[in-house]
Order: sequence, then structure tokens, then C-alpha cells
Amino acid sequence: MLPLLRPFHYTDSDWFAQEQTRIFGRLWILAAVKPMLAKHRDYRTLTLAGKQVVLQNHDGVIRAFSNVCRHRMARIQNEEFGNRAMVCPYHNWAYDACGKLIHTHRDPAVFGFTPEETADIGLPQYAVATIGSLVFVNLSDDPLPIEEQFDDHTRELLERYTAQMDSSFIYTRYEGAFNWKTGMENIKDALHVPCLHKSTFPTYFRVDVMGDEAFHGRDSTYLPRDDSLRQATSSGGLRFAQDGDAPAHEWKRLVHRLDCQGNYLTFHLFPNVNLMIVDGSSFAIQIYNPLAAGRTEMQMMVALTRPVDDFSYKPVVLWEHLVSDMTVLQQDIDCLEALQTGLASAQDHGFIHGAYETGILDFQAACLRQMQVAEKPQ
Ligand code: FES
Ligand SMILES: [Fe+2]
Repeated sequence: MLPLLRPFHYTDSDWFAQEQTRIFGRLWILAAVKPMLAKHRDYRTLTLAGKQVVLQNHDGVIRAFSNVCRHRMARIQNEEFGNRAMVCPYHNWAYDACGKLIHTHRDPAVFGFTPEETADIGLPQYAVATIGSLVFVNLSDDPLPIEEQFDDHTRELLERYTAQMDSSFIYTRYEGAFNWKTGMENIKDALHVPCLHKSTFPTYFRVDVMGDEAFHGRDSTYLPRDDSLRQATSSGGLRFAQDGDAPAHEWKRLVHRLDCQGNYLTFHLFPNVNLMIVDGSSFAIQIYNPLAAGRTEMQMMVALTRPVDDFSYKPVVLWEHLVSDMTVLQQDIDCLEALQTGLASAQDHGFIHGAYETGILDFQAACLRQMQVAEKPQ
């Protein structure tokens, strides 16, 4: 099937800048999970679509602001995760729970603002929406309803399952020299699992790779199934190779089991999230946060479902889960970095897609629609 995206869509800085505006500056982007912001004044900082953003809990309400001080544009919260009031460390301007400037200096003459002038200064605030434990931010001045991005069924499942997320989590983040879209296309590519991950992916999962019946030859043209934004998000899952193959870890008896026990559920949330629920007992979330055309920040977090009884070795379970996921992911990253070099050096070639890859074409079509570019085979 003819691809919809050309190599330059993955390497060109102008195209990347437009994606930042039209996709990441307009859609709901997963920015945190509630356990990261559980207590009053807990905050998380991150860069979204080139903007420095801080999410902060004030008395149980999570809000998102620009993390850039209005005085001299210093960073207000400096750590990635922390717990402190919104006070800029440079000259101690203080902002309240709604981002309003409430204090400049104990001697008002130092700045010489009237109270009205002070009250008029505030941090730009961004829209926040939650689905279960998932916290989304929208950078647009006029955010689209989140229901337009994720359909009822997806929201209902995410709400029900992630509401059972435990308060403990493990998190890591690193940067890779690849385009964010190849990261998302990779997770939609079932065939690479038994190939690239032959030695690392747990053998107790069965990976079914099937060709799409709608495929009619190598040079056929992609026909969009449905052009709504909601269709850009997909979900699926793997089953255990045989019933009863799920490893019977002792800790699984100590957590609430979800009704998706026995499955490896995946949600590919458009544009940049891969959320997995393994055997109804743990969550793994990967976020592909674009930094440049050839640079992506990968955020990875793991949490269990809520404990029935607290158990002392939970950190070990989280650590082992993360290490196992990272071992698989490192193979992806090595491959994607090589692929990025290939894309940069083979601008005249295009991908050659087969019948099992229509999910990738769905993703490419969704990207083009957000970019307001007609979906033409390339
Ligand atoms: S830059 Fe923040 S108080 Fe001066
Ligand atoms: Fe992979």
C-alpha cells in the first residue's frame, strides 16, 4: 500500500514546527497521572509543543500554567517533580493557585506597582481534563471538547481502569534521536515484536499478525475508514499464549484485579501515547514527546493497580517491571535511531507497506488531517 507520509515528514524542521502548532498545540496531550500530583502543592514540569508547562495541585485541584515567570522569564518550578508554592526563585515573585501574581516584594516601592497593576499580572493558564487517573493538558485558547478526541467507549474503559491505579509509581525519561511518529508507528507494528524482540518480549504472550482484507496489492491506495479524530485512537490487545500462562506472581494476589485479567490491553491514544494494562494488575504508559524533527523525549511510567494489602516489596515489583519494559524498548530505540538516519539519507524513497500495516496508514492519515493536508498517496 502506498504510504501517506514521505521521509521529509519525519526529518523536516518546518513540518515539525507545524506539527507542534496543529497537533500538539491544539489536541489534548497526556501530561501526568494523578499519583504524580497527589498532594497539595505537588507539581510536575514538562515541555509541551515548545512551551514550558507546570501542572500543580492546589487543594486537590490540578491546574496547568506557563512555567515562565512574568517578571524576567525565569523558571518558576525548577525540578521535574516537586512540592512547593509557585514562587519564582529569581526574585521571589509569588503566584496563587490560579496563577495570579500575589506578591512582588515586601517593600512595595521596589517595584512601584499599584495593587491593581499587580493583580493584573498572571501566568497563562491551560485547560486541564482528566479521564480516570490520566491528566490531559490542552494548550489551545479554544480547546476542543475532549469527547471529540476520544470516543465514549475509550473514555469509559480508561476511566474505569485507570481509576484503579495505585498511588506508587516508577518513572523514567530519556531522549532518542528519532521522530515521534516512527515511535507511534512502531507500537502499531505487531510484526516487529516476534522479529526485533524475539529475545526480550515475554513468550507467554501470543502476538497475532494479520493482513487487512481491505488491502489490494503493493501499489494500492489507502482508503480511510473513518475520518473523525476519534478514530485516530485505537485499542487492542494480546492474549496469553495458553490459558493459565500468565506468570503467577505472588504480588498479583495482593492487588485489585481488573476485569481485563488474562489480557495485555493496549490503547494507542492519538497523538503520542501507548498505554498498556497487563493482566489486569499493572499499567505501563509510554509518551513520545516531540522535541525536534529528529529528537523525541520518551517518558515511561509503571504503576500497579490498588493494593488489597500494602506489601513491602512493591518497589521491587515496579523496578523489575520497568527494567523489563526498558530492555524491550532499548531495542526499539536502537532501531528507530537507525531508521531516522535512513530516512534522512533516503529522501527519494518511500516506505513500502503491506497488508498488516493499515494501522500505520490510519495513523499517517490522522496526522495529515490534523495538519489540514489532503491524504494523497506519496
Ligand atoms: S524572574 Fe521571576 S521574580 Fe524575577
Ligand atoms: Fe517494540
